[in-house]
Amino acid sequence: MRKIDIFDTTLRDGEQAAGINLNTAEKLEIARQLERLGVTIIEAGFPASSPGDFEAVQQISNTVQDSIVTGLARTVQKDIDTTWEAIKRAEQPHIHIFVATSPIHMEYKLKKTPEEVVELAVESVKYAKKKFPLVQWSAEDAFRSDPEFLVRIMNKVIAAGATTINIPDTVGYATPAEYGALFKYLKENVTGIDQIKLSAHCHNDLGMATANTIAAIENGADQVEGTINGIGERAGNVALEEVAVALYTRNDFYNLETELKLNEIKRTSQLVSRLTGVVIQPNKAVVGKNAFAHESGIHQDGMLKNPETYEIITPELIGETAAPLALGKHSGRHAFKDRAVKMGFDLSDEKINEAFESFKELADRKKEITEDDLFVLFTNQQIESVDTPVYELKDVQVQYGTTNIPTATVSVIDPNGEEIRKAETGSGSVEAIFNTLEVLVQGKVHILDYRVSSIGKGRDALGEALVNLSYNGQASTGRDIAQDVLEASAKAYLNAINRQLIRTDLRENNKTASL
Ligand code: KIV
Ligand code: ZN
Repeated sequence: MRKIDIFDTTLRDGEQAAGINLNTAEKLEIARQLERLGVTIIEAGFPASSPGDFEAVQQISNTVQDSIVTGLARTVQKDIDTTWEAIKRAEQPHIHIFVATSPIHMEYKLKKTPEEVVELAVESVKYAKKKFPLVQWSAEDAFRSDPEFLVRIMNKVIAAGATTINIPDTVGYATPAEYGALFKYLKENVTGIDQIKLSAHCHNDLGMATANTIAAIENGADQVEGTINGIGERAGNVALEEVAVALYTRNDFYNLETELKLNEIKRTSQLVSRLTGVVIQPNKAVVGKNAFAHESGIHQDGMLKNPETYEIITPELIGETAAPLALGKHSGRHAFKDRAVKMGFDLSDEKINEAFESFKELADRKKEITEDDLFVLFTNQQIESVDTPVYELKDVQVQYGTTNIPTATVSVIDPNGEEIRKAETGSGSVEAIFNTLEVLVQGKVHILDYRVSSIGKGRDALGEALVNLSYNGQASTGRDIAQDVLEASAKAYLNAINRQLIRTDLRENNKTASL
């Protein structure tokens, strides 16, 4: 059966989306899960774009063993050298170089003639080939490029040593028939195309990314690029889980396979959603919370008689299990560790012990510990805190009554290690907390977005808060979890402030680190 390689760009194209900022520990965590999912290539970032990206790509490439790790680069030697420094210790160093080839991009963005662009592409690939065994070259905005020009530049880039060529629909303009036809045309006209991998990369501006990607596969693409949950700039990239599950479910039609472990999809999707703060729409194909919910009586009746009446994908296929948990207040450390291993977590004894302490605390406050709760506890241990937080929440109290003015009293440990305490009012509990915190962090804060959600089901589910704010003019996103949503909100607010302070410190002191 023909095999399709999966190139995951959640940590590069996905991370470029508005409002997402992951630190190195979070990127590493996602990369480990992508490796478990079985993606062929992980695009871990754009090393020359910032010290934080460099560090993340380097750490991921030093850690991940079973997937190839790549970094994005422009057609300049500095980018290629920086990517090499980040990736050189990998078993199969891979670089992804791109330059735009459409008339509009060449004329207005690059201000270069087509001949100059050919020269840039060829010279950069030749230069990269001296270091990297695997060189992918992308023709940015390929779909809006002149197909004859694409053939010309691809012939030269292949001769220069490229091992993969990517044909992106950068602005999500293609229709499936047109995108498929472009792949067919390139397959028929580019010299040596069978010696390289041909890759598809679709954006979802017109909602056609999955259909376009599949059309490319039908017309000869060997690799598909996309992100988990379809996150990415504007309307996002193609959702890889949709492509993989479509190929699997309609294997009778496509007769193709990927090496993805489909039963890792749900966990990967939840991890990406949790760490990026991008909520999955409930009716999203494959991973939405309603993707397997049958509401109407007629459907439910059919499902009871034979699930295949309405179910073409089972929740188990993507790893969604409703297994009742045997873990509770009286469970021992051994059973707890065993559960971590069964859930795919590889934690040291020290981390298991820390997670176990949190589990016991939670079990005292919550009747039933769900699989979602355990996932949070284990994930928190994997995301080691590599940066010292500058503010730490000590205590938060709120006085609220329908006839009172809501008042919050908050104490925090400040960056100098001093405990400071203030009280402020607001028109609601959350505003009172945020007003108090603004005084404590001594800066101008604007709240750009604020969301709370529950993790798992039940009235005693953990609460998660996400706060996107600007602190002294710089945007930052913070996230945290607590039993109570008000506490989670205060912690998420401080998390956003801390990220911003650390980032500023790194920039000012020219340090390489992880935000
Ligand atoms: O969409 C695009 O063109 C890209 C390239 C950098 C490959 O993401
Ligand atoms: Zn893209």
